[in-house]
This record gives sequence, structure tokens and C-alpha cells, in this order.
Amino acid sequence: MKNHTKKTAIVTGATRGIGLAIAKQLLKQNYQVVINSAHSAEVGKSLAQQFEHIAYLQADVSQADQCQQLIQQTVQQFGSIDVLVNNAAVSWQIPHEDLDAVTPQVWEQIFHTNVFAIWHLSRFAKPYLATRNNANIINISSVAGSRPMGSSIPYATSKAALNHMTRLLAKTLAPTIRVNAIAPGFIVTERTQSWTKMQQQVFANTPLQRNGTPEDISQAVTMILQSPFLTGEIITLDGGFSLAG
Ligand SMILES: NC(=O)c1ccc[n+]([C@@H]2O[C@H](COP(=O)([O-])OP(=O)(O)OC[C@H]3O[C@@H](n4cnc5c(N)ncnc54)[C@H](OP(=O)(O)O)[C@@H]3O)[C@@H](O)[C@H]2O)c1
Repeated sequence: MKNHTKKTAIVTGATRGIGLAIAKQLLKQNYQVVINSAHSAEVGKSLAQQFEHIAYLQADVSQADQCQQLIQQTVQQFGSIDVLVNNAAVSWQIPHEDLDAVTPQVWEQIFHTNVFAIWHLSRFAKPYLATRNNANIINISSVAGSRPMGSSIPYATSKAALNHMTRLLAKTLAPTIRVNAIAPGFIVTERTQSWTKMQQQVFANTPLQRNGTPEDISQAVTMILQSPFLTGEIITLDGGFSLAG
């Protein structure tokens, strides 16, 4: 599995959806890829059997000690880290007007997974990334981080925090590590494919007249990796939905 001619990428939350599409795209770009999840270990192990240059490491990134283990185990297996894609996130549908439904536990779970995890993983990966050429941290955010929308207020707030952390880390980790974020609009994945009403609403308000796919996001990962002067950017990928007012 270990291949010294290949670069190494970690993609958190990559057993399905956008994370899995990013992992497959990185394989095509000749990376060996560590995919991760907290729960779906059987799916992760089966993907690792299916694809020669994919390894699966189980870790709940909402826990700082498991973030450290994920980085350490990756370095033990592959010797280096070139790209860290912080994709794992949690979200629940909570109507914005239902303030009482947002318990302290909801805030904590969302911020531990969607914000603090990115800090811990970036901090633990930094010494390894810093020795590589074209080292990158790519954070998967959301249009909810910059517009008053999203599955819940804590989720949207977490993505706003992630956007600002992206800019701050880009400034702090330059010139050795580039840090960018991709902010998708609504994307049809296994999780959202049954949300037909949402799909129709977004479609009707999207200038490019289609819904987004996980591959739209994974192609932007390649674009970032191939753009050596790009850092500190939050790249909106929503087919123009945000332009609609
Ligand atoms: N889909 C959209 O419309 C959309 C729109 C904007 C932004 N995004 C962003 O895009 C990213 C991926 O979204 P998605 O829709 O593909 O998500 P998804 O289908 O819910 O998949 C999430 C992945 O993260 C893993 N995960 C969840 N909690 C974790 C934890 N604590 N530690 C490690 N892994 C964990 C999940 O595996 P287990 O649960 O098995 O652990 C799964 O592999 C997220 O950052 C999301 O906020 C999505």
C-alpha cells in the first residue's frame, strides 16, 4: 500500500457523499488517500479493499485525541502528509425560528465537529505538511457560512467560523502551507437525494439550471491543488444560486 512516489492526502468524513467523491478525485490525481469516518467503519474498510491506494482510518474528529491519532497513524503508514481535506461535518434540520430546539448539546456537537476538529487536525498535521512542496489544507464549508440560510443556525454559524479560521490559517501558515475553503450550495448526495422539494426549489433559483453534484466539489479540489498562488479564499460553488438575491 505504501508508495513513496505518491503524495498522501487525508479526507475526513469520506465514506460517502462529497468526501468520497473528493477521495476518488485525489486517486485520479495520483495521491494515496486516507479516508476516515467516525461510525461507518465497514463501508470504509470495504472501500479500502476495493481501491488499491485507499486506506481507511476510523476516528471521531470531534475528539481532539482522535484527531491526533488520525494524523499520527497516517504518518506511520505513509511517512508524510501533502493534503488535508477537512470535509466531515454534522448538521440537523432545525427551523431557524425554533430557538428552544437549539440546546447547548447541539451547539457543542456542531462546533466540536465542524470547527474545533479542523483546528486540531490542522495543528497536528502542520509539522508534516510544512516539509512538503505544494502542501494544502482544504476546508469544506457551505454557502450557509456567508448567507442567512442553512439547516440550522448553529450549523451556519459553524461554517462562518470555519471561513474565518481558513483566512487566519492561510495568513499564519504561509508560505509553506496553502489554506482554502470550498463553500458548496445544495449538493445532491445519498443524504439529500430524497429532499425532492429542496432540490426543486434550488434548481428553480440556480442560474446554471441544475443541482450540484459531489463531483462539482471534487473538481474544485483539483483546481485548488493546481493553483499555486491561491490561498485564503472561500470558493463558492453553487451554480450561481447566491446571485439570485
Ligand atoms: N450535501 C450538501 O448539500 C452540502 C452543502 C453545503 C456544504 N456541505 C458540506 O460538505 C461536507 C460533506 O457533506 P455531505 O453532505 O457529503 O455529508 P454526509 O453525507 O453527511 O457525510 C458526512 C461524512 O462525515 C462523516 N462524519 C460525520 N461525523 C464525523 C466525525 N465526528 N468524525 C469523522 N467523520 C465523521 C460521516 O461518516 P459517519 O457518520 O459514518 O462517521 C460521513 O462519511 C460537510 O462539511 C458539509 O457541511 C454539504
